[in-house]
Amino acid sequence: MLDNPHLRIGLGTDLHRLAPNLPLWIGGVHITESPLGCVAHSDGDALVHALIDALLGSVAMGDIGTHFPPSNDRWKNANSLDLLAQTLGIIREAHPNFRLINVDAVVHLERPKLGVYRASIQAVLAEALGVETACISMKAKTGEGLPPIGTLEAISTQVVVLVFV
Ligand code: C5P
Ligand code: MG
Repeated sequence: MLDNPHLRIGLGTDLHRLAPNLPLWIGGVHITESPLGCVAHSDGDALVHALIDALLGSVAMGDIGTHFPPSNDRWKNANSLDLLAQTLGIIREAHPNFRLINVDAVVHLERPKLGVYRASIQAVLAEALGVETACISMKAKTGEGLPPIGTLEAISTQVVVLVFV
């Protein structure tokens, strides 16, 4: 099915519980204003985790847990951008013509406002993915006070990618 060059779409999502006294990482950027961070096995970067799943999904190569099982201590406190780089390597090995066309992401987080971090997140992800910043979109939504996002219990993310294989 992947023998001929063609366009494919991938979707990834993630959700992490938030807790005090932990760093919050979103798209490889430290959200310094946040008093809450993700409870996670790794650095808990829910945007990068959803992006990894979207990339793997675009080529039907499983998901983040297939390649980086949370049961394996090797991935404990893993840097999500390292996992992203490894994911691209795994995909490129199977699909040498793989090219990322664009990324569109939504982050559901009650606060802080992420607009001021958008340019940094675009720059970090563009660099990690080897594309122009204009190919990376990050949007943010509050949870309108409703659980679990609006009550500051969780962060959730959705990412879609379009790729050429
Ligand atoms: O969730 P809501 O639609 O009320 O969010 C309004 C706007 O606030 C969003 O379109 C976005 O520009 C911004 N926002 C943000 N960071 C968040 C949540 C929302 O920048 N954590
Ligand atoms: Mg709204």
